[in-house]
Amino acid sequence: MRLTPGRLFWLKCALHTGFILPLLWLGWGVALNQLGGDPVQYLIHFTGKGTLHGLMLTLLITPLAKRLKMGPLMQTRRLIGLWTFSYGVLHLLAFVSLDLLFAWNMLLTEILKRPYLLVGMAGLVILTALAVTSLKSLQRRMGPHWQRLHNWVYLVALLAPVHYLWSVKSEIIEPSLYLLLCLWLLWLRREKLLNTAFIRKVFSPLSS
Ligand code: HEM
Repeated sequence: MRLTPGRLFWLKCALHTGFILPLLWLGWGVALNQLGGDPVQYLIHFTGKGTLHGLMLTLLITPLAKRLKMGPLMQTRRLIGLWTFSYGVLHLLAFVSLDLLFAWNMLLTEILKRPYLLVGMAGLVILTALAVTSLKSLQRRMGPHWQRLHNWVYLVALLAPVHYLWSVKSEIIEPSLYLLLCLWLLWLRREKLLNTAFIRKVFSPLSS
């Protein structure tokens, strides 16, 4: 099937809806006090999962576009990436507002105390840099540096599931499956990954 501009438009609308509806549902749950026995944990977990799902969807687009020979599908990456970043910000805000009660000074102490928060924070800092530079005008101005910067999303694809796995105390099956899925998404682009400047720098002394 050809992805005509009209179909692409509707696909983008569907994607926006897919990201907005869970937030409306969450807001509804908050308003009616229907988020279970621990609404704070519920909100943190819901937004954390949303960030991870968005990230995985972003990483799925390129292999899918290649497989289906649907170049225009690539135009949905920015939209999904920005929603992923928004969910990430909501996740951080949920933690700072509901868990730390807006004690921003506690954030650093908590991050240093709980290493999985440091891993999550590193992921969100990278997502922030990618969101800020996602503007078309900046992409043009940055030239080849833009792609180099945006390759850092592959590191987020490792940091995010590790953050999740590290955050759980016992039930490791689900986070392990997420980690495996992220590793598979990275495996799909192994050739590109092996060609990144970072990997070449790390591995070139080994081969010489
Ligand atoms: C790329 C960015 C991030 C992603 C993808 C992410 C994702 C996740 C996921 C999937 C969970 C587990 C949800 C569940 O158990 O159902 C989680 C838990 C959590 N995350 Fe994040 N996170 C990110 C960044 C952050 C940041 C920046 C913070 C705060 C500094 C943070 C704080 C937490 C906390 C407090 C939990 C709950 C841990 C617990 O159950 O006690 N995360 N995150």
